[in-house]
Amino acid sequence: MWTITRPMWGLGLEAAALLLVGYLWFVTASEDDVTPRISFPYNALERSAKLFSVEGVSNYTSLLLSLDDDTLYVGAREALFALRLQDIGSTQLTRNLTWETPDRKREECSFKGKSFKTDCFNYIKILLHLNSTHLYVCGTYAFSPICAYINTSTFSLEKDEKGQIVLEDGRSRCPFNPDYQSTAIIVDGELYAGTVSNFQGNEPVIYRSLGGGPYLKTENSLNWLQDPSFVGSAYLQESRPPGNPVGDDDKVYFFFSETGKEFDFFDNTIVSRIARVCKGDKGGERVLQKKWTTFLKAQLLCSLPDDGFPFNIIQDMFVLRPDGEAWENTIFYGVFTSQWYTGASSSSAVCAFTMAQVERAFNGRYREVNRETQQWYTYNHPVPEPRPGACVTNTARDQGITSSLHMPDKVLNFVKDHFLMDNVIRMYRTLPVLKANRTFT
Ligand SMILES: *[C@@H]1O[C@H](CO)[C@@H](O)[C@H](O)[C@H]1NC(C)=O
Ligand SMILES: *[C@@H]1O[C@H](CO)[C@@H](O)[C@H](O)[C@H]1NC(C)=O
Ligand SMILES: *[C@@H]1O[C@H](CO)[C@@H](O)[C@H](O)[C@H]1NC(C)=O
Ligand SMILES: *[C@@H]1O[C@H](CO)[C@@H](O)[C@H](O)[C@H]1NC(C)=O
Repeated sequence: MWTITRPMWGLGLEAAALLLVGYLWFVTASEDDVTPRISFPYNALERSAKLFSVEGVSNYTSLLLSLDDDTLYVGAREALFALRLQDIGSTQLTRNLTWETPDRKREECSFKGKSFKTDCFNYIKILLHLNSTHLYVCGTYAFSPICAYINTSTFSLEKDEKGQIVLEDGRSRCPFNPDYQSTAIIVDGELYAGTVSNFQGNEPVIYRSLGGGPYLKTENSLNWLQDPSFVGSAYLQESRPPGNPVGDDDKVYFFFSETGKEFDFFDNTIVSRIARVCKGDKGGERVLQKKWTTFLKAQLLCSLPDDGFPFNIIQDMFVLRPDGEAWENTIFYGVFTSQWYTGASSSSAVCAFTMAQVERAFNGRYREVNRETQQWYTYNHPVPEPRPGACVTNTARDQGITSSLHMPDKVLNFVKDHFLMDNVIRMYRTLPVLKANRTFT
């Protein structure tokens, strides 16, 4: 491993050497911990906590805050609640909805080798605003995911004329396994989900469905995703002029960690990613039919400024577009942990990335894999026009760059294999990385 010729973590050999002195690093790190600017002990007077729980209900994993109707919606195991913000602790004022898995389904699940006592229930994994009258909800439903609509005025599952609950297949929207980390966001009535599409949990997918646009997914055979663990997604309106009703340059971003195939030094190096697709993507006509034609991803690197120690596993991402500011001023704040940390306790870091850095990576060079050796290289050859992975905008159409909504085949053939950007997005230098011997959530 010491004959490495390419930089490791993009930071050179110091980082590699650091792995060997990991113990020493741990000693120094605990000495210069950063204390958060504001912190409150649990149930401090200034920040009292209200506890909500219902007997017999567990796994309150989905939360949706609705300031329009002063409600916190909660999705748990086989149950959902609508809590009034003023009275979160009070069960009397709470509306509830049970969504149980039929015994037949639970037995099927158990028959397929899953645990009857833990796995074979309906865990609510997706709870989102669909429109002004309905929520969209998906549950694992005993390893057989399904989705439904909730009428918020009655807080009940939407039924058809015959009185049957309106159910939709949750495959590629919601994971089968309740432990799987997935993400979902609804943009203009369309659901964008980062999840797995099969029972075994080994077919990752970024899938757009619902609404009027074409349903699109990532192409599995091309390995665009490598065993990802999704932590978040965000929608950014990037069209010009701002608020342009066509919205053709608007994008949806996904944040996840996955196996970093470009690092061949170790068998299983995890890297954090930011990936994006265009909202206006229509899929290909001949090449990449019903698949994303704008999928690109780049590495996010959160590491200590002094020694480069990598916090390589993203745990969460908060996307801040400051009020009234242009999308170019968006900042991405991530919580990271490390794969290699072996101290007495686990440790976390917070890193920030700017949109300018993200844009630079996505507008920069691509990487390419050598199919025989499976090694990744910077692609230094000419790139077809219009730029692969870019959104087809009205401006481009006006300039006659593309005559239709679709990219030419040569661009799409390029996109199939050039989905990884060469630039590594390093944390924003002027903002110090915050670390602690604690696991931040
Ligand atoms: C759910 O709501 C019903 C009707 O308001 C109520 O009778 C029941 O106690 C509630 N269940 C829970 C667990 O809060
Ligand atoms: C919201 O979506 C539901 C389900 O598609 C639909 O029945 C309802 O009419 C929609 N409401 C509005 C206000 O568009
Ligand atoms: C939601 O439920 C209320 C009360 O039953 C009903 O009046 C309304 O039509 C429902 N909304 C939709 C969009 O189905
Ligand atoms: C559900 O809750 C139980 C008890 O807190 C916990 O052991 C289990 O890991 C949880 N499962 C999921 C899928 O969150």
